[in-house]
Amino acid sequence: MATEMALVKPISKFSTSSPIFSNSRYGKFTTVRMSSTSQSTAKAAAKGGKKAAKTAIKETLLTPRFYTTDFDEMEALFNTEINKNLNQSEFEALLQEFKTDYNQTHFVRNKEFKEAADKIDGPLRQIFVEFLERSCTAEFSGFLLYKELGRRLKKTNPVVAEIFSLMSRDEARHAGFLNKGLSDFNLALDLGFLTKARKYTFFKPKFIFYATYLSEKIGYWRYITIYRHLKENPEYQCYPIFKYFENWCQDENRHGDFFSALLKAQPQFLNDWKAKLWSRFFCLSVYVTMYLNDCQRTAFYEGIGLDTKEFDMHVIIETNRTTARIFPAVLDVENPEFKRRLDKMVEINEQLLAVGETSDIPLVKNLKRIPLIAALASELLAMYLMPPIESGSVDFAEFEPQLVY
Ligand SMILES: [Fe+2]
Ligand SMILES: [Fe+2]
Repeated sequence: MATEMALVKPISKFSTSSPIFSNSRYGKFTTVRMSSTSQSTAKAAAKGGKKAAKTAIKETLLTPRFYTTDFDEMEALFNTEINKNLNQSEFEALLQEFKTDYNQTHFVRNKEFKEAADKIDGPLRQIFVEFLERSCTAEFSGFLLYKELGRRLKKTNPVVAEIFSLMSRDEARHAGFLNKGLSDFNLALDLGFLTKARKYTFFKPKFIFYATYLSEKIGYWRYITIYRHLKENPEYQCYPIFKYFENWCQDENRHGDFFSALLKAQPQFLNDWKAKLWSRFFCLSVYVTMYLNDCQRTAFYEGIGLDTKEFDMHVIIETNRTTARIFPAVLDVENPEFKRRLDKMVEINEQLLAVGETSDIPLVKNLKRIPLIAALASELLAMYLMPPIESGSVDFAEFEPQLVY
C-alpha cells in the first residue's frame, strides 16, 4: 500500500527563500506533493523531476490521516460554565510547562545531515525517504488539528486554547525538521498543497481524544525506542535525525499527558461501558495499523539494526501499559494470542498486496480480495473480543507532568 504519491514537481517553481530549501547547495530539488513515497516518485526525484509525474492522490487505510472534528461540540466541552469537571489550575500548570518550551533550541541542523544522506544509497535510500515523508505528514497532521483547536477555543477557554497553539508550534517544528531532512535527499513535501488536497477524516471530539492520546503516546514510544537502540548500537546510526529523538519524544509525551488531562476533565468519556468498548477499538486500530505498516517496511527497521516485529511489539506493549493508566479498558497485548493474530494479519495483508500487483482485470482482483478482506476482518474481530484488561484510574489521581524514560 505504498502507492499514495500524487504529484512530483521541480522545485524551481517555488521560492528559494523558503526555509525548506535554504540550506541546500542543489538546484535540482523536487517538491513531493503527497505522502508517502513510491518507486516512481523516487525515480522522478532522482531525475530532478523535470517532467511532473501526475497521479491522483490515493488514500489508503494505512496512510497517515488528517483529522477534523465538531468544533462547536469542542467549545461546549471546554466551557467552564457548562463543564464543572474542568480543573483550570491543572491546565494552568500544563500551560506553564508548554510555555517553558524546553526544545526551543533543540532542532538545529548541522552539516552531518547532508553528508550522511549522501552515503545512504540503494534500497535503503528509498525507504529512508519514505520514512521521512510519512513522519513529516503525521507531524503536520497534528499541527493542523491543534492549530485549528487553538483558534476555535480561544474565546471559550483561553488556557486550553493556548496549550493547543503551543502544541501546534511543537508539531510544526517536528514537521519542518523532517522536511529539512528530505532536503538532504533533494526532496521537499509541499505542505501547503497537502493542507488543501488531503481528505480530512471526521471524528467526534471524544474519538479525537482517544485517537490523539494514543498517537502521541505511541509516537513517544517509537522515538525513544529507536533513540535508545541507536545509542547502544551506534554502528547503525546512519543519519543524525535519530540523535534528536530523545528530547523530541518528550514533546510527544507532554502532548499525550495533555490529552490525558483533557480526558480526565470529561469523565463521561471514560466511565461507562461504551467508553470501554471505544477504548479497546481505538487501541486495536492504532496497534494493527502500525504493525501492518511497519511490516511492509522491514527494510527500514532492519537498515537501522532493528527487528521490525520485535520493535513493534515492544512499542505496542509499552504504549498499552501507559494507556492503561487513563483508558478504562485496554487490550491484552501481552497474551501470545494477540501477536499470533497480528502475524496472521500480516500474512493476509501480503496476499492482498500481491493481488494488487497481478495483471488481472479489476473485477477479478476484487473477487480475489473478498475472502482475504473477510479473513482480515475476522482476525480483527477475534482480537477485539479477546478478554480485555480493565484499567484506568477511578479516582483520577492528581496530574503530575513528568519525564518518562
Ligand atoms: Fe510531533
Ligand atoms: Fe505530538
